[in-house]
Amino acid sequence: MLFPLVRDSKVEAELAGDRCHPICADVGLASAESAIASVLEAHTSSLDLLINNAGNVRKLRWLPETAAEDLEELFRVHCVGAFRCTRAALPFLRKAPKPAVVNITSRFGSTARAAGGEFRGIYSYSIAKSAQNMLTVCLDQELRKEGIRVFAVHPGRLRTSVAAVDADTEPRAAAEKLAEWLDSADRDAGCSLYDLMAGEIIPW
Ligand SMILES: NC(=O)c1ccc[n+]([C@@H]2O[C@H](COP(=O)([O-])OP(=O)(O)OC[C@H]3O[C@@H](n4cnc5c(N)ncnc54)[C@H](OP(=O)(O)O)[C@@H]3O)[C@@H](O)[C@H]2O)c1
Repeated sequence: MLFPLVRDSKVEAELAGDRCHPICADVGLASAESAIASVLEAHTSSLDLLINNAGNVRKLRWLPETAAEDLEELFRVHCVGAFRCTRAALPFLRKAPKPAVVNITSRFGSTARAAGGEFRGIYSYSIAKSAQNMLTVCLDQELRKEGIRVFAVHPGRLRTSVAAVDADTEPRAAAEKLAEWLDSADRDAGCSLYDLMAGEIIPW
């Protein structure tokens, strides 16, 4: 059974089916928690996998062009949004046999790579993804002992609406690879930031 979270009620109606129960919510708003909980309560007792994927980008690299509100908005979606969705899903994850949470992060959230000069940090986006990475670590520290694994995954350079100039991967290929990787992921390994398409660990 699938529970896609969408913002548009028209998309919600289009997706609804016997095995698909969309949740209409904005992860940046507090109301998302009750929206998620009520759809899950109505249709299932357990949840195997939560993917925190919602995100948007501001490609602002310079201080004068970046407003404090840009930072607040992206932090609210990438970090607080993932926190909210995980809180709402937790009672259902606890009842699954091998539950997992995947936080879709970005290479641009790696403090180590930015500090090493590999790329220039993007104020709002890199800070939001870096905060989301710490959320992944905090969740892993708390939930691993209950058997809930929490992963940070950089999905690759995807050809989507927020694509970087060097985007080279179709979102469908990344989704298929993620499913494959999750099936074989070492559930006992330490908490790390995994580059899905490159098949390597990115330093935090
Ligand atoms: N594209 C890349 O190369 C790349 C690389 C690294 C990481 N990522 C990450 O991958 C994730 C998916 O991005 P994408 O590339 O697939 O971009 P995308 O096509 O723009 O998808 C982003 C999705 O997030 C949803 N969303 C945004 N804000 C939301 C909110 N407040 N509440 C609920 N849903 C919200 C959007 O919903 P609407 O359809 O309603 O706008 C959209 O469905 C993001 O977390 C992004 O940071 C992408």
